Amino acid sequence: MDFEFDLENRIVDPEDIPEDADIENPLRPRTLSEYIGQEKAKENLSVFIEAAKLRHESLDHVLLYGPPGLGKTTLAGIIANELNVNIRITSGPAIEKPGDLAALLTNLNSGDVLFIDEIHRLSRSVEEILYPAMEDFAIDIITGKGQMAASYHLPLPKFTLVGATTRAGQLTAPLRDRFGVVLRLEMYTPEELATIVSRSAKILGIETNQEGALEIASRSRGTPRIANRLLKRVRDFAQVMSDGVITYETAKVALDKLEIDELGLDGNDRRMLETLIRFYKGGPVGLETLAAAIGEEAVTIEDVYEPYLMQIGFLSRTPRGRCATHAAYLHLGMTPPGMERENSDQTTIF
Ligand code: ADE
Repeated sequence: MDFEFDLENRIVDPEDIPEDADIENPLRPRTLSEYIGQEKAKENLSVFIEAAKLRHESLDHVLLYGPPGLGKTTLAGIIANELNVNIRITSGPAIEKPGDLAALLTNLNSGDVLFIDEIHRLSRSVEEILYPAMEDFAIDIITGKGQMAASYHLPLPKFTLVGATTRAGQLTAPLRDRFGVVLRLEMYTPEELATIVSRSAKILGIETNQEGALEIASRSRGTPRIANRLLKRVRDFAQVMSDGVITYETAKVALDKLEIDELGLDGNDRRMLETLIRFYKGGPVGLETLAAAIGEEAVTIEDVYEPYLMQIGFLSRTPRGRCATHAAYLHLGMTPPGMERENSDQTTIF
């Protein structure tokens, strides 16, 4: 196969963290009222925060789930800010041993937020420490071995655990059940993303008009992280190739040059769909087989490629594997199965 997958430099990869990892990123909204979109989650969350503040209690533990790049870390920061408490940020894979988690927990102050990203990747032994910590605000620490073993019951300050995951289905039931608030984040509409792009442009001192912001938004796969990244790249083109103002035309030219099409698909999305169609007759094909064919990890396909392709109706997951839909064929300029005859009929007509 002569397809080239430039997986290292995907501008539309919502999992590529460094640009937005910093909680001090100026583009991150700091309050719920600055946060655009996710109306349902925001509305409920504001009630729970207000109620906790009225009762002078810590907020119940919160689980945020949904595809990457939709603002889970941002929301965790907002929760802490709205509660006027500190936030400690870590991730499932970073907590290697039960002692690592114990150290984090014992250093919290009353009411603090502990944010654990990718919480589905906690090891079982770490997770077991978390259960009593979440439920009883206490941990049991065992020191020494054999006859020297001793167990200490250590009370913890009342804290709020905010867990984030792209894979709610992979959480164990005991962990999932310990979250009092469970919020699912949805992909953003182009209009919401255009508002985010305009807000970010203002903060960064970039001049855009409504049409320019909407053009970036509609190619951002429903994801603010991608929208903000594309805004910065389009600014580069606008500055070098015109007067620096982002209009519909400058956005279109720049995004075409970046090979991001009208729906936000990049070369890798298109080549994955082409592989599925050309080599596997559009499917069904098993995830592992597809992953091997394009030289990508199965989890990346599941977390990065698929949510958006399914959202726009280009891909379906069936019990027998992945299938490209007719819409995907048509978008790639290919003839969907079952429509060949219609085309050949047309050929005879004309
Ligand atoms: N930047 C990233 N996500 C955002 C959001 N939901 N609202 C406002 N600005 C954002």
